[in-house]
Amino acid sequence: MIAPHDDIDRIMDVMVQAFPPEYGEAWNRRQVSDLLLLSGTRYGLVAPGGSMAPEAHEETAGFFLSRSVLDEEELLLFAISPAWRRRGLGHALLSCFIDQAKGRGINRIFLEMRAENPAGHLYAAHGFVPTGIRPLYYRTPSGKRLDAISQELRLD
Ligand SMILES: CC(C)(COP(=O)(O)OP(=O)(O)OC[C@H]1O[C@@H](n2cnc3c(N)ncnc32)[C@H](O)[C@@H]1OP(=O)(O)O)[C@@H](O)C(=O)NCCC(=O)NCCS
Repeated sequence: MIAPHDDIDRIMDVMVQAFPPEYGEAWNRRQVSDLLLLSGTRYGLVAPGGSMAPEAHEETAGFFLSRSVLDEEELLLFAISPAWRRRGLGHALLSCFIDQAKGRGINRIFLEMRAENPAGHLYAAHGFVPTGIRPLYYRTPSGKRLDAISQELRLD
């Protein structure tokens, strides 16, 4: 998918605010634009009012990035800006992503998240189940180590 320059700006605006710096989860602009040149990649945006197509004058509240291969799709990044959290936008964007994936014939969605991330509640509410652990995958500057948890949603 080729993303317009403006949409990459929108993704990066959310990216720099949304991910806690200590876990190194945020991607840089080059990583995002290179990813979106690959086949099967997709992104989605959500506006503060819940629209999945923010108007030109509007801020972007959140985004997702994904990549599909055959009937499987990986949710690579998913974030809502801190200013717009706990208003249901995470639910709305994730529902939209899952519905789009279903519409494209995807049978399995998977993702990886750090242990203790409150995003786990969101994923569980949409039917994702944990399928595996990479022990102590994340390391913070303070030395704290956290597992990475693989999650899967079956749509078939
Ligand atoms: C996870 C994230 C996307 C949630 O976005 P959001 O817009 O606040 O989500 P919603 O308001 O739709 O809430 C979704 C559910 O997530 C859970 N949740 C979200 N934030 C939470 C928190 N701080 N503590 C506990 N549960 C939380 C709740 O179960 C909530 O559902 P409920 O309000 O019905 O109880 C957002 O916090 C975020 O961008 N975090 C940083 C980036 C990140 O970690 N992304 C996931 C990478 S795998």
